[in-house]
Amino acid sequence: MTTMTNADQYEVIGGGFTEPLLAAAAITTGDRILDIGCGYGATTRAAALRSGSGLALGNDVNPAMVAAARESSAGIPNVTFEAGDAQIHPFPDGGFDVAVSRFGVMFFADPVAAFANIGRALRPGGRLAIAAVGRPEDNDLPALLASAIPGADNVHALSDPAYLTAVLDDAGFTEITVSPVATTITLAGGPEQAAGFLSEWGAFRDFLAPERHATVIAALARAAQPFRTGRGIRLRSSAWLAGATRPPSHHPRMP
Ligand SMILES: C[S@@+](CC[C@H](N)C(=O)[O-])C[C@H]1O[C@@H](n2cnc3c(N)ncnc32)[C@H](O)[C@@H]1O
Repeated sequence: MTTMTNADQYEVIGGGFTEPLLAAAAITTGDRILDIGCGYGATTRAAALRSGSGLALGNDVNPAMVAAARESSAGIPNVTFEAGDAQIHPFPDGGFDVAVSRFGVMFFADPVAAFANIGRALRPGGRLAIAAVGRPEDNDLPALLASAIPGADNVHALSDPAYLTAVLDDAGFTEITVSPVATTITLAGGPEQAAGFLSEWGAFRDFLAPERHATVIAALARAAQPFRTGRGIRLRSSAWLAGATRPPSHHPRMP
């Protein structure tokens, strides 16, 4: 049993991508930032800090996570949170200078419509910077989870950089760049501890039926075995960092 909060667990898994994401977002003082699928709000708070006199709004479809993010951000005047489905949420038109997301944009039923909705929330010339889970062969964690529960590796919707580029293009963005970024996820202890950690992590727990708990933990521990090192379970983690711009003035596309 881990003593970490779920918010801490998300940082163990995704924390290595915060700095590259925020560097790509090129936030400047006064920027108004929208953080899509913000989860517990760590990136929202980090983005707000970089914006100085600006502000950051964290959006997430999960109201419980939004409530927890709000609680952790109490006292930070330029951070707010709002629950809503980013695919259709009525963000203020042109209300933000920058939209960011650390792994919150890979679960859309219609990615083009969703990114078009996010694009509308940006002012003309506003920037998008997202991290999306990279190719399956460069990521150990999704396969490890799926070996215990088939389907638990549902994070690869934007793993093909050509498809990711096409989605952003179809959604109306310009100046699209996609570059790889990689880090290592370290889970403390041996395979059993790693299995315990993962079985409690919110992103996986949803897949875990209580009556299968023991079986799944055993399967996770077996799958973690090959990644055992003297410094814990070490997993390769790779993402695409995509940058894009809402065109300065919006011209409808020619057919
Ligand atoms: C892998 S988690 C990443 C959370 C957070 N960005 C982080 O890096 O810790 C994905 C997040 O996206 C959110 N999400 C999924 N679909 C969404 C949607 N349609 N609109 C808004 N948030 C969504 C989930 O609730 C979840 O918090």
